[in-house]
Amino acid sequence: MEKVRVGIVGLGRLGKIHAKNLSEAIQGCELVAACSVVPAELTYAVEELGVQETFTDYQKMVESPFIDAVFIVSPSGFHCEQIQVAMAHGKHVFSEKPIGLSIADIQQTVNVIAEHPSQVFMLGFMRRYDESYQYAKKLVEAGELGEITLVRCYGIDPSSGMESFVKFAGASDSGGLFVDMSIHDIDLIRWFTKKEVSKVWAIGKNAAYPELDKVGELETGAAMMQLEDNTMALLVAGRNCQHGYHVETELIGTKGMLRIAAAPEKNLVTVMNQEGVVRPCSQNFPERFREAFINEAREFIQCIQEKRQPEVNAFDGLQSTRIALACKKSCETNQLVDILK
Ligand code: NAI
Repeated sequence: MEKVRVGIVGLGRLGKIHAKNLSEAIQGCELVAACSVVPAELTYAVEELGVQETFTDYQKMVESPFIDAVFIVSPSGFHCEQIQVAMAHGKHVFSEKPIGLSIADIQQTVNVIAEHPSQVFMLGFMRRYDESYQYAKKLVEAGELGEITLVRCYGIDPSSGMESFVKFAGASDSGGLFVDMSIHDIDLIRWFTKKEVSKVWAIGKNAAYPELDKVGELETGAAMMQLEDNTMALLVAGRNCQHGYHVETELIGTKGMLRIAAAPEKNLVTVMNQEGVVRPCSQNFPERFREAFINEAREFIQCIQEKRQPEVNAFDGLQSTRIALACKKSCETNQLVDILK
């Protein structure tokens, strides 16, 4: 089978990880082109990853007849336009989350994707490709928990990443805490329950990092949600986790409950020293979701080769952003937001 030739846009915190995976860990593809506005990142792509062509202009990269697919890992505000341009040029598209920052732009993007059904489109909700989440999903599908009544999610970034986050948020619009971070939890809520969210009430607080006020970002946020069948969901999102990277999900059902990463443990090692009995923690997203990033990229390439669409699609991007934006609005207006109205 011919190798899928991929061009990547964005080689920052996450782009480098995807680029390395595509060039080293995924069979059936070749990373042939890279686009960034940072010259050092393009030098890295050529020297470290053997990329043949580099671009500072995305439009020129997608016009290249030598690429079949693009991987979009640019700042979130660029996703919609870059997806549409790539689709119009006949390329398969993987886009990082969120699919976009405004519902009007996303709706237009969803329509453009729908006009190109033979091109693969995949959105980067990598948690769905994590082994533990997949295991939990199988249990839920097998009815082990009965009917789900409540989902509780924590997604808290390490405080050690604060400096790099403030730089990221200062350089481009992240969409805010709910759109940038809770979107993963919102996707999981929809994925596990197969239900849509109808109402949200969200609140937030900045305490430890006043620099977040300057870039208009929240340090900790929380949201309570009601789904269309009265299932409940509780979210906590944050950027100030002192012990590492805390992603935890709990599902409560009529027959049982389960927790994924009840404590965000790094591995199976327990250290015994002057501090006591210590279970080291997962420290950041590249470490915690290393395999999931590889699995999702592999799925994207296999979808292209097998001419099928992945499970996670543009509609998931639209709905998750709609809910995340409702959380943002609720937090800013201190009102309960009825999404279905
Ligand atoms: P970053 O700021 O570290 O990197 C952005 C990259 O985009 C840089 O290489 C920059 O040169 C490039 N870029 C900026 N403007 C450009 C333009 N006009 N044309 C071409 N390239 C341009 O950002 P980071 O953290 O890597 O995030 C990128 C995306 O990935 C965001 O949408 C973010 O939401 C998403 N992300 C997803 C994660 C996940 O858990 N799935 C984790 C981290 C980020």
